[in-house]
Amino acid sequence: MREKKPGRMGMKRVELALLAFLLAGCGAETKKEVAVVTLPDQDSAGAQILISDCTECHGAPQPSAHPAGEWAGVVRRMQNWRTTKGFGVIPEKDEAVLIRYLQEHSRQ
Ligand code: HEC
Repeated sequence: MREKKPGRMGMKRVELALLAFLLAGCGAETKKEVAVVTLPDQDSAGAQILISDCTECHGAPQPSAHPAGEWAGVVRRMQNWRTTKGFGVIPEKDEAVLIRYLQEHSRQ
């Protein structure tokens, strides 16, 4: 009996460590969601394309990062990165919607 107790305690400690690890994982996930929510006009088609096609390699880029005139060039460069890294190129129609979205909310 006495010998078994420490064993069970040990198991509990492992379980607690695992739980803490899982909770920490949840925390990180929540942070990511919060970062995404800070995009302007979040429900628009452009924002949704940004969330799905511009976050594979880095966090969601903010439209305010560039003035309107620079966004087409930045997106072209990112399309090249997509090709280089083996992601599919964003279709022309989506790219146009995305660039319009970035320009509408760009740095003034
Ligand atoms: C395949 C990976 C990949 C994807 C997908 C990707 N990027 Fe990038 N992005 C990079 C890399 C690598 C850098 C750093 C080198 C550079 O700036 O070219 C970067 C840097 C940036 C920067 C900071 C540099 C700057 O010029 O301001 C912005 C803004 C950006 N990306 C926007 C976007 C947008 C918008 C999309 C979606 C169209 C996108 N990224 C999708 C790889 C990617």
